[in-house]
Amino acid sequence: MSNKILVVSGSASPVEASYSAELAKKFIEEYKKLNKDDTFEYLDLNEIAMASKTLTRSNMGTYFNEEDSLKYISQLKSVDKVIMVSPMHNFNVTALIKNYLDHILLANETFSYKYSKKGDAIGLLDHLKVQILTTQGAPYGWYLWGNHTEYLKGTWEFVAAKVNTPVLLAGTKTEPLNKLTPVDAVKTIEKEIQAAAKIF
Ligand SMILES: Cc1cc2nc3c(=O)[nH]c(=O)nc-3n(C[C@H](O)[C@H](O)[C@H](O)COP(=O)(O)O)c2cc1C
Repeated sequence: MSNKILVVSGSASPVEASYSAELAKKFIEEYKKLNKDDTFEYLDLNEIAMASKTLTRSNMGTYFNEEDSLKYISQLKSVDKVIMVSPMHNFNVTALIKNYLDHILLANETFSYKYSKKGDAIGLLDHLKVQILTTQGAPYGWYLWGNHTEYLKGTWEFVAAKVNTPVLLAGTKTEPLNKLTPVDAVKTIEKEIQAAAKIF
């Protein structure tokens, strides 16, 4: 059986200089070697109007509309797997990713409190398997309170998706990675990428 995979990319870097774009490329390459019949849809959030819309007091009433919200929720319901790509921006995911999540995390569409025990939501995307691919300028551990990788894992688990082992390329702004091209930097975690691709 072949799977449909949605790749959601939220890097604001120029593609040629983007570590996360290279990480996604490499992961997909490895995944395709093992899953030749799977098909891919790509969502570059730089090109999607909804990902530049922030929820404010003035748009609260119209934010969750057909075009910006329900269409992308339907897309998530139409695929089997999601690959989410995000660098760290100020200790969290990029605003593009946050705006995307703000549009698709909608009660009674992707999660529900209706049939849950007190304080416990029910995720409605339990058909999804998710691969998180992240980058950050600082090496892992410099500030563990800012952990966009864990934030994404918890968020997808909240909607009941099964999250595969995330792959984080950390330290893109420090030595030795900042002296390497994105291609060579990603090579330093090649084994980790292959291992994750194998079980995704
Ligand atoms: C606006 C902005 C904010 C950033 N904030 C952080 C941060 O809080 N922590 C960090 O480790 N790196 C931070 N970085 C560095 C990026 O995470 C890193 O350069 C990343 O590799 C860039 O995206 P890319 O992987 O698509 O090239 C920031 C970069 C930018 C442009």
